[in-house]
Amino acid sequence: MARTKTLRHLLAPGRIGPMTLSNRVVLPAMDMNACVDGELHQTEIDHYAARAAGGTGMIITGASAIAFPVGATSLKEPGLSDDRFIPGLKALADAVHASGSKLCVQSTHHGKVARIDTLQGRPLLVPSEPDFSYDMSAMADNSKDELMKMGAVTGGKKASYHEATAEDIAWL
Ligand SMILES: Cc1cc2nc3c(=O)[nH]c(=O)nc-3n(C[C@H](O)[C@H](O)[C@H](O)COP(=O)(O)O)c2cc1C
Repeated sequence: MARTKTLRHLLAPGRIGPMTLSNRVVLPAMDMNACVDGELHQTEIDHYAARAAGGTGMIITGASAIAFPVGATSLKEPGLSDDRFIPGLKALADAVHASGSKLCVQSTHHGKVARIDTLQGRPLLVPSEPDFSYDMSAMADNSKDELMKMGAVTGGKKASYHEATAEDIAWL
């Protein structure tokens, strides 16, 4: 009882603009990497539906690519930019809403960490060329296996960069 009293604000309805949440418990964005070529499948839908059924006021999806596969960091992240993604996204929204929870889609372009651009031979879209003169010695904390896995995502290709113009930003 005392605990419920302490959490009365957390468990009370909350509002974000015109939208009312049943409580203020929010699941933050945590990517699942369970999509197949950007398409959501039942595993991921079930994962979020279970959190909604547990009473979470709002669920934020993991990073989802607004121009898939351009600007994506993985081919397993949800894509948002083609009609073929709609059935999975709709099934996810329906499953979350069925428990009275709200769904927020984290819409992302990964910029300098869009490893799929490097893998597929596109320059990374960045505000400015990254400065790699900073201290990278912490990388030494990774094992050889971990470092090899990181390199494998881009097929060992070296990243190139394109500084965004006003037209790029408008497109984005
Ligand atoms: C496995 C994992 C995946 C994550 N994926 C995302 C993501 O896709 N987008 C994002 O903005 N944050 C992501 N995060 C960061 C979490 O949302 C963040 O840790 C959470 O909001 C808690 O905030 P804090 O780390 O500042 O306490 C991820 C965190 C974890 C542990």
